[in-house]
Amino acid sequence: MAAFSPDDHGPETLVLGIETSCDETAVACVRGGGEVLSSVVSSQVDLHARYGGVVPEVASRAHNELIIAVLAQSMVEAGVEGSDVDAVAATTGPGLIGALLVGVSAAKALALTWDVPFVSVNHLEAHFYAALLEEPDLEFPLVVLLVSGGHTMIVEMSGHGDYRLLGQTLDDAAGEAFDKVARFLGLGYPGGPAIDTAALKGDPEAIHFPRSMLNEGYDFSFSGLKTAVVNHVREHPDVSTEDIAASFQAAVVEVLVAKAQRAAKASGAKALALGGGVAANSLLRELFLGACANDGIQGFLPSRAMCTDNAAMIASAGWYRLGADGPSALSTGANPRARMF
Ligand code: KG4
Ligand code: ZN
Repeated sequence: MAAFSPDDHGPETLVLGIETSCDETAVACVRGGGEVLSSVVSSQVDLHARYGGVVPEVASRAHNELIIAVLAQSMVEAGVEGSDVDAVAATTGPGLIGALLVGVSAAKALALTWDVPFVSVNHLEAHFYAALLEEPDLEFPLVVLLVSGGHTMIVEMSGHGDYRLLGQTLDDAAGEAFDKVARFLGLGYPGGPAIDTAALKGDPEAIHFPRSMLNEGYDFSFSGLKTAVVNHVREHPDVSTEDIAASFQAAVVEVLVAKAQRAAKASGAKALALGGGVAANSLLRELFLGACANDGIQGFLPSRAMCTDNAAMIASAGWYRLGADGPSALSTGANPRARMF
């Protein structure tokens, strides 16, 4: 691997990022941690829809087929050649092992070929960087509500790389709850957008579903809510699907917003940001901004493309990691259960 010194790291440093932890094959070119030259995402959602969820083996095979084309498109769109790239970053975990291995192997091969550093990136840290990537002026301490298909957590970021976990889900992730309820209601996959759309035609007050642990700390629990939906539909088979979707969504969003708002106040945060796929939810986006305005705190909603999995956030987090820790060893493997806390 090329020798690396801190002088090699600055606003001109171009990091090529690769993300293959789940069902998106993504490659991005980002300069100086913040200037996105290209961000290409190829979603496999259609491949998995017929199974009602991500099939790990199908995902890894699709990553294998797509990675070279996505890489080429990202470099062409950015107008860069291999000799322009200063480091290659990839998600090493958490995620699906077979899927992760495709991106990690590609990144190591490119780093070796171009003789530049390889940088291992934790997928969750990258989601925290998504907000900063679009709004570099966000002030610390920053509280991030990360709500995705695999994770639901509230994290305080006091500075770059300085995190404190304030709360997390004790069972299902918020996105997982959306996906499971949508599947039960026959709304298809992925469930979040399907419930979001159905809820537009429903009454959020039609059924009062439980708001688990609303006033207790910063941890979440969504499995009881999912059971409450199932029980309600079994007891009232004629209930409107739109009313169920709207009432379920209102219950999830109320808890998410209340806890994030309380955590931000308690930690004296200057700004509150959303991250993860569920941050694309229209009701969450609306109530989140309303809560921030009420509390006089800077609220930031990344674009929908930056909320869902992408490689620009990997390249951005990779740029900060490279500056803080230097290159990662080429022996660093994919770790499906990589932890941040
Ligand atoms: O961050 P992400 O793209 O992948 C993970 O790292 O998990 O998040 C995917 C999750 C899925 O559970 C999906 O149903 C949910 O985000 N999602 C939504 C919406 N769009 C995507 N949930 C609620 N409302 C949406 N509009
Ligand atoms: Zn993600």
